[in-house]
Amino acid sequence: MKIIILGAPGAGKGTQATKISEKYGIVHISTGDIFRANIKGGTEIGKLAKSYIDAGKLVPDSVTCDIVKDRLTKDDVKDGYLLDGFPRSLFQAEELSKFDDIDICLNLEVDTSLIMDRICGRRMCACGESYHVSTLGGKTTCAKCGNELYVRDDDNPATVKSRLDTYNVMTAPLIAYYAAQNKLVTVVCGTKTPDEVFAAVCDALDSFGK
Ligand code: AP5
Ligand code: MG
Repeated sequence: MKIIILGAPGAGKGTQATKISEKYGIVHISTGDIFRANIKGGTEIGKLAKSYIDAGKLVPDSVTCDIVKDRLTKDDVKDGYLLDGFPRSLFQAEELSKFDDIDICLNLEVDTSLIMDRICGRRMCACGESYHVSTLGGKTTCAKCGNELYVRDDDNPATVKSRLDTYNVMTAPLIAYYAAQNKLVTVVCGTKTPDEVFAAVCDALDSFGK
């Protein structure tokens, strides 16, 4: 199964992608995570990406498309993959279609009013696990690996606003793009918990095309 997961910043793409990847045994590829690893590693890609990410803008297509194209040549994607955060524009979707054919675009629909609190309350672990302060009960370490949690550099109100604007202009048109190809599955998240959203996601994925 080749899946794209689409949704506004903070919609829960990473949260659901981790669960989907575990349940369906497919690789989770997040372009945001790839860029953050490059920033941490001090690579040329990381240096370039940082200014765009901190401004809530898209990293240039010339860099992003090559990274994904290269990643999708690796052996571990043979049984399928879950792309989280790519494509993020019609141009990227067209580029992707030139080197692979996805099966499903899973669109997580979330109320914009919930996003600011979700993102600004997010606490990350280097192992990839993410939490929200409201559920941590004052803990500052990861329940899975014990590492100290941190706040992402782009998780501040000004950057979140810019990320949302970028999403609305550049990424939201992909909903109609994949609907026109009969590949769109939308899950309305409302105020569902992550586990409740995951149950709805599994129902939607399992019944797709039946
Ligand atoms: P990226 O890392 O993809 O960030 P994003 O799209 O802004 O999305 P987030 O990771 O912030 O949110 P999410 O939807 O994964 O939500 P999460 O599950 O963490 O991209 C970062 C930047 O990289 C971009 O701005 C851009 O600059 C660059 N970039 C990346 N891809 C690119 C591309 N293709 N082209 C160009 N540039 C690119 O959840 C958020 C919070 O909510 C957490 O605290 C979580 O615990 C909580 N939560 C999750 N689900 C629920 C729920 N159901 N109820 C309550 N809380 C919940
Ligand atoms: Mg994410």
